[in-house]
Amino acid sequence: MKKLVENNQRRDFLKKCGLSTLPFFLPTISLSNTSPSTPQNNNKSPVNFVYDGLAFSPQEYLEKLNEINKTHPIEPDFYGNGGATKALEDTFAKLTGKEKAIYLPTGTMANQLAIKLLSEDNTKVLVPENSHIYRDEADAAQSVHGKRLVPIGKGKAYFDLSDLKETLSYLNENEVFKSGIGTVAIENPIRRADGTTVPIETIKELSTYCKENGYKLHLDGARIHLAATYTKVSLTEYASYFDTVYISLYKYLNATGGAILCGDAALIDKIAHQIKIHGGTVFQNWNNTAVASHYLDGIDQRWKKVVSTANVLISELNKLEGITITKIKNGTNIYDLKLAARINLKKLAVFLNKEHTIWLGRANQKGIIKFTVNESILTRDIKEIISAWKEGVDMARQ
Ligand SMILES: Cc1ncc(COP(=O)(O)O)c(C=O)c1O
Repeated sequence: MKKLVENNQRRDFLKKCGLSTLPFFLPTISLSNTSPSTPQNNNKSPVNFVYDGLAFSPQEYLEKLNEINKTHPIEPDFYGNGGATKALEDTFAKLTGKEKAIYLPTGTMANQLAIKLLSEDNTKVLVPENSHIYRDEADAAQSVHGKRLVPIGKGKAYFDLSDLKETLSYLNENEVFKSGIGTVAIENPIRRADGTTVPIETIKELSTYCKENGYKLHLDGARIHLAATYTKVSLTEYASYFDTVYISLYKYLNATGGAILCGDAALIDKIAHQIKIHGGTVFQNWNNTAVASHYLDGIDQRWKKVVSTANVLISELNKLEGITITKIKNGTNIYDLKLAARINLKKLAVFLNKEHTIWLGRANQKGIIKFTVNESILTRDIKEIISAWKEGVDMARQ
C-alpha cells in the first residue's frame, strides 16, 4: 500500500514536470533510471532530444570523471573549501564579473538564500508567477525564510516594467500596514515557457528601475548560458544587471547536481553559514564541480556549434514528409515537433532508440513533442543522425 502511494506521488510529480522531460521509451514511473546504466546496444553514446545536457548514465559519469582526472588530476574540496570547488567558484566569479561565487548543493537553496539575504529585513519578494522560485520551491520563502512571495505576470512568459509598476501600486494602495519590498527576481531562460528568454531591453529597464528604487535584483539563471548562446548577450552582460546570479551545474554542465551563486563579497561571504544552518553543507563536492568545470571550459564555442548543427538538422528533418519542427518565439534550445497523424510516434521513438541510440521525448496533450537540442548532437556525424530519422520516419508510417 505504501509503495502504491509513493508511486502515485512520483507519477504526479512527473506529470507536473511534463512527461516530455523523459525519453519516450522509459517507463514514466522510474526516476532512478532516466538513462540506461548499461552500455548501449551499438556502443554509441546517446544523442538525446530530451534534456539540456548529455544525460550521463552512472557508468558514463564515472568514465568522464576518470578521463578528467587523467588530464587534470582532481583536487578534492573539504566541506566545499578548496580544490575543484574553489576553482569552479573562481571561474564563475570571473565569468559573471562578480566579486565572489559560492557552490551550493541545489539551485533551490541558491535562489532562496539569495532572496533572503538580499532582502535583509524587508519581507516582500516580487517574483514571476510562472517561476521555479514561486511554483517549485515548496513555499520555502514563506515557511523557512520569513519572506512573502508576490507573483507578477500571471499568464505571461515574463513580466516587464509596467507589470512590476502595476504590482507595486497595487501593494501600495491596498496594504495598510506596509512592509518593505526587498528583492525582485527574474528567471531567464524561462523553464515553464519552454526556454523562452526575457528580452534584454526588458531586463535593462527592470534593472534601472530597481536600482533607482532600492530594490535588489536576483537572476535565476539556471540555464543562463543557453540564453547567452541564443540572444548573443554575454553572461557577463546579463550578470551586470543583477545583484546576484544563480547558475545550475547539472542542466547543461552535466554534473549530477549543484549550483553556483555569484554576487558581492559581502553577501556571498554570508552564504556558507546559511548553507550549514539549512543542512546543506556536504563533505565533498568535487564529483560535481570537477565535471561542471570541465564542461564550462569552451562552452560558448561548443554551443555555437550546437546551434549551427541543429539548424542544419532541423532544416533536413523538415524536408521529411509529415515532420514539422518550429522555433519558439524568443526561444532557445527547445523546438516544437509535430508529426502528421500517419506517423506513429511510439514506433519512431522505439526505432530511433533501439537502432541508433537516439532519444525522443513524449508528446504533450496538444500532440507536440518538445524537441530539445544539446551537446549530444555533436557526438555523432550529423549525416548519420539525419539518415537514422529518414529510416525511422519511413518505418513508422502507418
Ligand atoms: C529555472 C530553475 N531554477 C531553479 C531550479 C532548481 O534547481 P535544483 O534542482 O538544483 O534545486 C530549477 C530546476 O529544475 C530550474 O529549472
